[in-house]
Amino acid sequence: MASSAAATDRAALVKEFDETHAGVRGLVESGVSAVPEIFRHPDPYASIPFAPHGVSIPGKSMICHYYPVCPEPERTMGIVPHTDPGVLTVLAQDAVGGLQVKHTAEDGGSYWVDAKPVPGALLINVGDLLQIMSNDRYKSVEHRVIMNSHEEARVSGVVFFTPGKRGALDFYGPLPGLISSENPPKYRSFTMSEFLGAFFKQDLASKAIIEHFKI
Ligand SMILES: [Fe+2]
Repeated sequence: MASSAAATDRAALVKEFDETHAGVRGLVESGVSAVPEIFRHPDPYASIPFAPHGVSIPGKSMICHYYPVCPEPERTMGIVPHTDPGVLTVLAQDAVGGLQVKHTAEDGGSYWVDAKPVPGALLINVGDLLQIMSNDRYKSVEHRVIMNSHEEARVSGVVFFTPGKRGALDFYGPLPGLISSENPPKYRSFTMSEFLGAFFKQDLASKAIIEHFKI
């Protein structure tokens, strides 16, 4: 209620100011040296409870990465090759780039491809859990971040989506609608606590979590 009263007050103040036809020039000539309150928009994000770095809130967690300029990028790695464990990952990256995705050619050979930044675009990664739930219809994407050899730092923001229902009776596995006698389940069912336990026990660079639940 308080915020709607504040919004009404602000609307009334803006209308009152507008009707004076004073404008910015009038303010300056009147000796106003600070920005009047009516020009200060309420913080639209003030009521959103952001999680601390790396801490998961049910179903979602957000992480921001900062990659400083590296003087010897060929001697290290930004993030080692891995697949994301969750369902989907949404990534916003700046123009510096550095993300690479592993592409497997028809002859079986594989190589790394730059995921070049596109202004305003979000990049969506399929995670291990979606591979399991889709019974391999969608494959989780192996990716890595090479060290930054540019002259400016790289910044990215990532939101991981995983199921929020994590009770002892909430089971996950291939979706029943995708299973048939021609397409039997390739994975057993499990709870989120078993899935996350398996993930945290493994090395980030491993894809063992998919193998762990394979039938
Ligand atoms: Fe990742």
